[in-house]
Amino acid sequence: MRRPYIAGNWKMHKTCAEAAAFAALLRDALDDAPHTVMVAPPFTALAAVSEVLKGSAILLGAQNMAAEETGAHTGEVSVLMLEELGVSAVILGHSERRHTYGETDELINAKVKLALAHGLTAILCIGETLDEREAGLVTAVVERQLEKGLQGVREAQLNGVVIAYEPVWAIGTGRTATPDDADSVHRVVRNKIAALYSKRAADDMVIQYGGSVKPDNAAGLMAKPNIDGALVGGASLKPESFIPIARFDRG
Ligand code: 13P
Repeated sequence: MRRPYIAGNWKMHKTCAEAAAFAALLRDALDDAPHTVMVAPPFTALAAVSEVLKGSAILLGAQNMAAEETGAHTGEVSVLMLEELGVSAVILGHSERRHTYGETDELINAKVKLALAHGLTAILCIGETLDEREAGLVTAVVERQLEKGLQGVREAQLNGVVIAYEPVWAIGTGRTATPDDADSVHRVVRNKIAALYSKRAADDMVIQYGGSVKPDNAAGLMAKPNIDGALVGGASLKPESFIPIARFDRG
């Protein structure tokens, strides 16, 4: 049975002090949440948020990491630094990393393997652009991103992998995929995992949806058989929107 997994990607929002205060509020409101809950603050706030979340059920995530453990990589953050702060999950291949910062499937794959080697959960983000959708390329794009992103990852390591399907055209736009639309792509993802690994691996894989998830559409999305949670951007920044999403009721 897959446990729903709700993650908040704070992107480049909140100073250290703001992040710590918000994390304290979430800790008190979500400690008994019925689902797995994770928050991914900016790097500068990880230490402070880690301190606040110590002993709580809320997991600490990072939004990215370098593909190497150490070295001359100005401006990058290493998996070793994340581990030291109690980070247990890392978002990799987010569309903003792919499209604004030019991250390739190959680079993302190296990061996924490094995260897994260190025991972190790798949240591998995939999703098509509007042009790709209109050209009928959704299946081809997500299958390619999955195959390349998971290259060299063994089936035994898949319990450390979460897939986040985030159609690029739905991120920060207020346009959400309909639950049926999203579920049909999640089915493509699950079938591809079955083809690359096994039916069992596919059945066990947690697949989050991301892209304008809000309190009023979360339960409808999560009611679909292949949607196991959400990667939430804008609505993860405020208690009145994130708490109800993290407590969604499948009914
Ligand atoms: P929004 O929820 O703001 O659309 O962002 C989604 C996202 O990119 C989460 O990683």
